[in-house]
Amino acid sequence: MTVHIGAKTDEIAETVLMPGDPYRAKWAAETFLDNAKLVNDTRGMLGFTGTYKGNPVTIQGSGMGMPSLSIYVNELIKDFDVKTLIRIGSCGGMQPDVKVRDIVIAMTSSIISSPSSAIFREFQFAPCADFSLLSAAVKAAQKKDATCHVGGIYSSDVFYDERPDLNEQMTRHGILAVEMEAAELYTLAARYNRRALAILTVSDHLQTGEALPSSDRERSFGDMVEIALDAAFE
Ligand code: HPA
Repeated sequence: MTVHIGAKTDEIAETVLMPGDPYRAKWAAETFLDNAKLVNDTRGMLGFTGTYKGNPVTIQGSGMGMPSLSIYVNELIKDFDVKTLIRIGSCGGMQPDVKVRDIVIAMTSSIISSPSSAIFREFQFAPCADFSLLSAAVKAAQKKDATCHVGGIYSSDVFYDERPDLNEQMTRHGILAVEMEAAELYTLAARYNRRALAILTVSDHLQTGEALPSSDRERSFGDMVEIALDAAFE
């Protein structure tokens, strides 16, 4: 047990999928895992452990934003010795060909700041995905015929952004999408020598203003969960 995760040491699997939303964790565990059992409900940040094709998996909410994710990832790594962490979440498209419902797999993520900025100081660390997970996820997405983009994203500290000029520079430099967690996940994985990947569904588009209708959210989210599970156990 830790400050934020009430599970016993052996109740968390070596592989953890992390949606931002704890209710998405519940839905994904009940839909895709066998024998899913609630292992954490501290602060309502639900976590479930079960098996996928016989492999133990935990699906644990991360909350929104890098500070929240950092709490859970630090405890999962240091106290539960988790080896593989895959974020499954939503993102805002930033390129014309990155459409709502598409999948974005983050090779790297740019930031303005993160919980690790204070320790890096002037050093501009480039967080990157684990290549074995990345290539397995691309294969899994292709097998599903999912439209999938692989490249750089932006992990923002704000959802309600006040810098349209900055978005313009990012779009100009090929950033595929914006979300709020991946860069710190990759940084912590690098620090503790773990495997990490962020697989995202485009839920809205910054330029077109298009948004995924709520009726479609479950199906699009489900494809991403299956891609993450197949990549983890390839
Ligand atoms: N900004 C930040 N995070 C997001 C967005 C966005 O527009 N859409 C989905 N996650």
